[in-house]
Amino acid sequence: HPPLRVALLGCGVVGTQVARLLTEQADDLASRVGARLELVGIAVRDAAAPRDAAIDRSLLTEDAEGLVARADVVVEVMGGTEPARALLLRAIEAGAAVVTANKALLAEDGPTLYKAADAAGVDIYFEAAVAGAIPIVRPVRESLAGDHVRRVLGIVNGTTNYVLDQMATTGMGLEEAVKEAQDLGYAEADPTADVEGYDAAAKAAILASLAFHTRVSLDDVAREGIMSVTAADVAWAAQTGHVIKLLAIAELRDGTSAGGSAGVSVRVHPALVPTSHPLANVRGSFNAVFVEAESAGELMFYGRGAGGAPTASAVLGDVVSAARHRVLGGKGPQESTYAELAILPASAA
Ligand code: HSE
Repeated sequence: HPPLRVALLGCGVVGTQVARLLTEQADDLASRVGARLELVGIAVRDAAAPRDAAIDRSLLTEDAEGLVARADVVVEVMGGTEPARALLLRAIEAGAAVVTANKALLAEDGPTLYKAADAAGVDIYFEAAVAGAIPIVRPVRESLAGDHVRRVLGIVNGTTNYVLDQMATTGMGLEEAVKEAQDLGYAEADPTADVEGYDAAAKAAILASLAFHTRVSLDDVAREGIMSVTAADVAWAAQTGHVIKLLAIAELRDGTSAGGSAGVSVRVHPALVPTSHPLANVRGSFNAVFVEAESAGELMFYGRGAGGAPTASAVLGDVVSAARHRVLGGKGPQESTYAELAILPASAA
């Protein structure tokens, strides 16, 4: 099979690692896919800006549209709604498979992309959009597609988990801990997305949409971040045998409980977790997700939820899947069918 052309959109913490791995692992990837993966360009805002030594500067371009037009697989790790959405739609229309780590875009407007991908008969993969290295999108999207998921619960933001952990174990202040999380490559470009809970809410919306075969968007998620958590709260929690964690919870409500209406409820908020609970021991930038399904029972997923290399691992897995489909013919899972489930408004959570 002739080489497959891979275009990379974005060269931040994750993009740099994706580019490095595509180059360093080229032989392994070729044997796994059955074709070589040729990185044909890296779209960036400023081609003259300093870059990691792993980046081949001759691949840098500021012409993202032109790059997308000459790729078989487009990998988007730039983040933000625009121009990411326009570029991905362009890629799909041109018949390229798409791999994205863009949780904000998927939570806001995923169905537009899924529909376009279905219409064009191309793959759209987004394992890296939720919980970094942890395989959670594929299990919920594919492995559990024959089951009935009742609840998804967990820690899906590495930055806030790192911050709360540092506050609890070192007594560090929130701002100093956020700065560390930025230096370690965990935080979003604008860390308010992490500390205000938007990042976790976007991931919760994506997981809820997959788990319940419905369309949950960012606005449907009740959200409270960690900005109001003080050192005193953290100390008090410790004295009473708890830790404070930012939890994301998506669940089916049957409407029979007091005051509850039937539908899907999704929320993100700080919670007191007893130190004996497994979630209390999720430290640093790690994430953990519990899934409860009717037949499968309880499942637990745990691993590195943020950072360049862990997130790049998930991106590369998607690239291999998309590339294999190109080589073998065929197409990955689709998001075209939806149940008619009520999404409970964020105010009802
Ligand atoms: N800022 C995100 C986090 C990165 O801290 O979890 C991974 O999506």
